[in-house]
Amino acid sequence: MTIEIQLDRLMHELETLAGFSDAPAPAVTRVVFSEADLRAREWLKGLFAEAGLIIREDAVGNTFARWQGADPALEPVASGSHIDAIPQAGRYDGTVGVLGALEAIRYLQHAGLRPRRSIELVLFTSEEPTRFGIGCLGSRLLAGSLSPEKAATLRDDRGASLDEVRTAAGFRGPLDSVRLTPGSYHAFVELHIEQGPLLEQSGVPLGLVTAIAAPATLRFAIEGVGGHAGAVLMPGRRDAFLAAAELALAVEAAARGTGAMDTVATVGVCEIFPGAVNSIPSRVRMMADVRDIDLARRDGVLAAISKSAGTIAAARRVTIEREMLNCDAPAETAPLVLAELRRAAEECGLASVMMVSRAYHDTLFMARAVPAGMLFIPCAGGISHRPEEYAAPADIERGVRVLAGALARLAA
Ligand code: HGY
Ligand code: MN
Ligand code: MN
Repeated sequence: MTIEIQLDRLMHELETLAGFSDAPAPAVTRVVFSEADLRAREWLKGLFAEAGLIIREDAVGNTFARWQGADPALEPVASGSHIDAIPQAGRYDGTVGVLGALEAIRYLQHAGLRPRRSIELVLFTSEEPTRFGIGCLGSRLLAGSLSPEKAATLRDDRGASLDEVRTAAGFRGPLDSVRLTPGSYHAFVELHIEQGPLLEQSGVPLGLVTAIAAPATLRFAIEGVGGHAGAVLMPGRRDAFLAAAELALAVEAAARGTGAMDTVATVGVCEIFPGAVNSIPSRVRMMADVRDIDLARRDGVLAAISKSAGTIAAARRVTIEREMLNCDAPAETAPLVLAELRRAAEECGLASVMMVSRAYHDTLFMARAVPAGMLFIPCAGGISHRPEEYAAPADIERGVRVLAGALARLAA
């Protein structure tokens, strides 16, 4: 089956979607349940309806658009990703997997395919941790990896609870109605940019993801003693920011210390209180992101960071409270999905290479509930989560073509 993707239409739709943003182009900021996010969702639902898909939204805003198959009793096949974007991000992270899945479905419809299994596009709510501190909120609830009770305790920076925010956005109903019932899907596939440089460097056009790294997010509350920047003498200071600075370096040292290339960590959030140049920081709120493909090694890094926090707190006479926001296991791709993705690539005459994903994705959690896998396309220089993020149309077209072929095979 030669697959002709309507690439111009798809690129125009990616361009339009990037316009729903709280940052001036080329940056994209689209925080979950923001006005920009809600307008983008409405626009996408219009496209899903135009394609004749049956649309439903769950209590947390996960959106499902189903192409009814010949035998509705069979477990459907699903594909999708997210459209929320961290501040000052790019326009391809997540969106390629949502609009790419839509384009794959429209192609298969146009090619006259009559899938036995329904094919369902899934738009996951809140893949990014920006608003509620934890990533993959929608897919965690779908997979049962986050309890509705724990989810209900989540609050954003303004103190608004998840329930307040989702209800205001029009998503109602109990969170325990979100969880997928066993056997909801036969398989799930996510198309995504690699967000790293390896695929582009390899010169191979497609990546078949074999495993997704295990992410952990730590939040630290560091309490020192504030005071006048000029009047308090150095020996007596209990400067919360300098303790935070030392802790941030300890996070880096713990990750580098494993000697493994798959161990990564950074401190991406650091807020100083009171935040005046002539006032000694009395309080710091800091967040660290620690990941590794190997769970035991990742947990060893977390233990080393905790130990350093204790040493720094004692030496600098500050208190350091640590909260683990998430600490997830890695996920393996289902052999069924890997095999169909490889065969679809071969059918398109395209080479593919097996690789791990260091970024996490909704597939990390979908894989806990259904046979799941991911297909990567390269992005320029591996740049992501920055306005310079770029995926070439030819790469997007190859990814969608193979996704369409894999969905057709899985839904046959
Ligand atoms: O952080 C991640 O890995 C994903 O892009 N949210
Ligand atoms: Mn992202
Ligand atoms: Mn993403």
